[in-house]
Amino acid sequence: MITVLFGGSRENGNTATLTRKVLEGHEHQWINLTQLSFKPVRDVRHEENHILSYNDDYQTVIDQVLQSDEVIFASPVYWYSVSATLKSFIDHWSETLQDPRYHDFKERMENINFRLVLVGGDSPRIKALPCVQQIEYSLQFLGAHLADYLIGYAEKPEEIYQDHYAIREAERWNNYYG
Ligand SMILES: Cc1cc2nc3c(=O)[nH]c(=O)nc-3n(C[C@H](O)[C@H](O)[C@H](O)COP(=O)(O)O)c2cc1C
Repeated sequence: MITVLFGGSRENGNTATLTRKVLEGHEHQWINLTQLSFKPVRDVRHEENHILSYNDDYQTVIDQVLQSDEVIFASPVYWYSVSATLKSFIDHWSETLQDPRYHDFKERMENINFRLVLVGGDSPRIKALPCVQQIEYSLQFLGAHLADYLIGYAEKPEEIYQDHYAIREAERWNNYYG
């Protein structure tokens, strides 16, 4: 199963368009993180407490992620970062690491192919590179890794179609998904 974790606020914006192009003809589940609620992370790493429940939508989403073979993080570049929504989902991984029900969290993440789609309007293929590192290092921390990334250059909806490099790459990824 391919799962998209979409962190944008425009459902028909460039990030969504480029990601749909990647997935054309392939079955997938599309999770719109922006419509869900993620509470701030609880840092219990240096306490006796474990995490045993979540009071937001996180557990549903992480369970969907862990049942996937392929996961695409799809985010607009917001202030030279991935979106706050996607980041707040990732913050919760620290809770899962303290949750005995997910004692095999790292092993399960290691077996997933992660990819990243970013779109920005300000020289993103240079200025959004720290976002790629951020995701790669976060995955590495869990023993997982980022298989590939695609950075599109666009501002207004539909503008992504003028980024021939990004569209070509999306087609290449589409072939990869077979
Ligand atoms: C809150 C906000 C912050 C943004 N910050 C950046 C930025 O730092 N760098 C950049 O390249 N583009 C930035 N943009 C532009 C978007 O990345 C751009 O419009 C792109 O198309 C992705 O958004 P979309 O998927 O909704 O179309 C920003 C847009 C918004 C709304």
